[in-house]
Amino acid sequence: MRTRMLLATLAVAAMTEMVSGNALAQPAGYNYDEEKVPDFDLPDPLVTQDGARVKDARTWESKRRPEILELFREHVYGRRPGRPERMTFEVTSVDDEALGGKAIRKEVTVFFDGTADGPQMSILIYAPRTQEPVPAFLGLNFSGNHSIEDDPEITLNTGWFRNRPDRGYVNHRASEESRGSASSRWPVERIIDRGYALATIYYGDIDPDFDDGFRNGVHAMFYRDEGEKPAADDWGSIATWAWGLSRALDYLETDENVDGERVAVLGHSRLGKTSLWAGAEDERFALVISNDSGCGGAALSRRRFGETVERINTSFPHWFCDNFVQYNGNEDALPVDQHMLIALMAPRPVYIASAVKDVWADPRGEYLSGYYADPVYELLGKEGLPGDSDQLPAVDQPVKTGTIGYHIRSGGHDLAEYDWEQYLDFADLHLKQGR
Ligand code: GCU
Repeated sequence: MRTRMLLATLAVAAMTEMVSGNALAQPAGYNYDEEKVPDFDLPDPLVTQDGARVKDARTWESKRRPEILELFREHVYGRRPGRPERMTFEVTSVDDEALGGKAIRKEVTVFFDGTADGPQMSILIYAPRTQEPVPAFLGLNFSGNHSIEDDPEITLNTGWFRNRPDRGYVNHRASEESRGSASSRWPVERIIDRGYALATIYYGDIDPDFDDGFRNGVHAMFYRDEGEKPAADDWGSIATWAWGLSRALDYLETDENVDGERVAVLGHSRLGKTSLWAGAEDERFALVISNDSGCGGAALSRRRFGETVERINTSFPHWFCDNFVQYNGNEDALPVDQHMLIALMAPRPVYIASAVKDVWADPRGEYLSGYYADPVYELLGKEGLPGDSDQLPAVDQPVKTGTIGYHIRSGGHDLAEYDWEQYLDFADLHLKQGR
């Protein structure tokens, strides 16, 4: 118990450090030298557990893909439940004249167990005012739905937040001052102008981001018995947030303004790890985007460059399943690596983005997971990563004509307008053209 509490304190300290910007973007004591990356062998996504080579799409789909998905569930992210039978949706606000009249804005509450006092999340949706349902971007946010746009009509989230007095988060609560505080990450008007809807949810609605032994958030619905101990392969927070994204998609499939078959899931940093896992678990997501997701996201664990498995499990003991701890300092024993997570998206489009100064997330390791996932795309008849090079493309030169997209942007760890422009182009190519 004491250890858990100490770890939780460390985790909050580490998060404050990183999120506050003056951050240890590169904590000391980790490897940032390409020369010191150890030699390693990656598991082959196209060889089954019993050693047979996968030579056709059928074997990939019926045997190898399910096998890899199971390995990630058991050893990395944990297993999740299905859609709750009693879940309900309620539209709580609609404005047909949002953003100066060009958009519809609505808020929808998802009651996970169908009761108003049970666990719930609120989805904020902007959609262009068109007759036809449009493709959409769906992503979790760090600071509440009210932080993405400075608009007094958006409900102020009353849940738990990390303190950020400079942005209006005090005593773990959001104040009026926090409205619009994350708007640089959410260019709502631009997204609407390009013909897409945007749906977003505060990730803390699904599971507050601190270690409480898998009890709070929606976990409460599944661990009724006080003494029940979560199993070593039970879902950690990343799997829980990803599950929340699937529940949001359940709603979007019913929304008249959105085309549920053309929903791109996107996330930054820990929420980029989350969007990847969401895309792996739920093939209804038509396109998957990882923005600066790093360790446990797009970056190859075996490179041990920047953040390591041991460090992430120590700073954030609640993110992965307990089995993942076995691989602290023992990455070579992992039955998977993160290129296989990217391969789970195939043949659907996936975009991986890095930033030059975000060395903690290992840009080269993020790129290489796309590179090593490419053979699976080829097997399924798609051009994966154009260029077929294991060398990073030049800075600010996106590679976005294939089914695996990639860029390394100048600047640091952030979700920037530049990133959005590439995602919009990539989405045009895959979700709009030829339809
Ligand atoms: C920390 C953590 C990363 C994570 C990031 C974030 O830096 O070490 O793994 O991606 O926080 O989510 O902001």
